[in-house]
Amino acid sequence: MKNIQSYVNQHKDRFLNELIELLKIPSISADSAYKNDVLKTAETVKISLQNAGCDVVEICETKGNPIVYGEKIIGQNLPTVLVYGHYDVQPPDPMNLWNSPPFEPVIKNTDLHPDGAIFARGSSDDKGQMYMHIKALEFMTTTNQLPCNVKFMIEGEEEVGSVSLSKFVKENQEKLSNDIILISDTGMIAPGVPSITTGLRGLSYVEVEVTGPNRDLHSGLYGGTVANPINILCKMIASMHDENNHITIPGFYDKVENLSQEERNEMAKAPFSLDEYKAALGIDAVYGEKGYITNERNSIRPTLDVNGIWGGYTGEGAKTVIASKAYAKISMRLVPNQDWIEITKLFTAHFENIAPKGVTVKVTPHHGGQGYVTPTNSIGYKAAGKAYEEAFGKKPIPQRSGGSIPIVALFEQELKSKTILMGFGLDSDAIHSPNEHFGVFNYLKGIETIPLFFKYFTELSK
Ligand code: BES
Ligand code: MN
Ligand code: MN
Repeated sequence: MKNIQSYVNQHKDRFLNELIELLKIPSISADSAYKNDVLKTAETVKISLQNAGCDVVEICETKGNPIVYGEKIIGQNLPTVLVYGHYDVQPPDPMNLWNSPPFEPVIKNTDLHPDGAIFARGSSDDKGQMYMHIKALEFMTTTNQLPCNVKFMIEGEEEVGSVSLSKFVKENQEKLSNDIILISDTGMIAPGVPSITTGLRGLSYVEVEVTGPNRDLHSGLYGGTVANPINILCKMIASMHDENNHITIPGFYDKVENLSQEERNEMAKAPFSLDEYKAALGIDAVYGEKGYITNERNSIRPTLDVNGIWGGYTGEGAKTVIASKAYAKISMRLVPNQDWIEITKLFTAHFENIAPKGVTVKVTPHHGGQGYVTPTNSIGYKAAGKAYEEAFGKKPIPQRSGGSIPIVALFEQELKSKTILMGFGLDSDAIHSPNEHFGVFNYLKGIETIPLFFKYFTELSK
């Protein structure tokens, strides 16, 4: 493509400054106190899409946060790429662990990012990655190189389950019709090692409550005579993995696809250093399901993890008490073919079944979604491969990710289109954690790679 590198080079300071302005707005979807900031962010995204050359841009109101929709249609016979991203971010806490305030972006050099990285909540997930697409569009329109039609759909509820977007997609199939969906909301292996995400895990997220006696009790007077809900909850949770770290819920693995040894060998070729992995996390050993290596445990295998657990006295000092209730939040990451609703039912039945006499239990499902795998022989995948090869000088490695973007399976179901996941983040970006950051190199390389995808996708579609 003509001048893409020089264009990015020439405008990089502005590209960074515009992103920094966007990152200053705390668009936290989980907390209604930030509603105005969410609306302000949607407005900013709208203006940036207009400036980048969209002919139509609208803010679509929903029961929740608005969806920003934009399009530039240049020919009825040309293919259409639908770009999806999200402008909402996770809450920044715990605040005291940030080295600089989460909504006051700063660029700092790190060992992995000699060209600098932008530190701010949302820098990698997903404002930074979403904004790459807007700048790529700006490049294509200002240099007269947009080869096909483009639609943008940027939502504000991804981090809380995309409820409004699901409805919007079901109700706007015509408006959203496309030949391929393009998303940058995942990662790559390393700055010099391009990769294409070929799978996402599904998710079932539940909350459990265990109730024992009808009130909190003196742990001396009653200790030893009644079921302690916290003890019981811990026991129940512990029993959900066996000695091989296999999940014990009956039927849990029934639909899990077993990859052939050939496919597993192929996966194992991806560059990975167990020593570096352990060092980066400060652990002396990895832990997980027997019979699988780390890269399999976090991609092709399902999991069950406690995300939070509470009950009883957690304040200063000691209080001798048996609490009446204990709680936990539990997430199960699922692999393609496992149905999240079915898994939620299996979990609930099992949890009720293993509860001993003396307690009652309640399971409340939160949200969930299906996993996804992309074929690697499609036009979209080939176009992405060529784009990476040209931008990085290397063929990208296909890689299944452990994270979830549940809306992707819904896109396939409702819009009948496949998604290409061109992620430019790194696992070390600390998304959802304190000190989230996004490499300047990754950001600019993304802006450079995206127009090449448009070019090759259009060429290969002919
Ligand atoms: N962008 C992430 C998902 C992701 C990150 C996938 C890195 C692959 C690699 C997304 O914003 C996210 O955080 N998803 C949630 C699920 C959602 C329903 C809250 C997740 O994976 O926990
Ligand atoms: Mn995201
Ligand atoms: Mn996220």
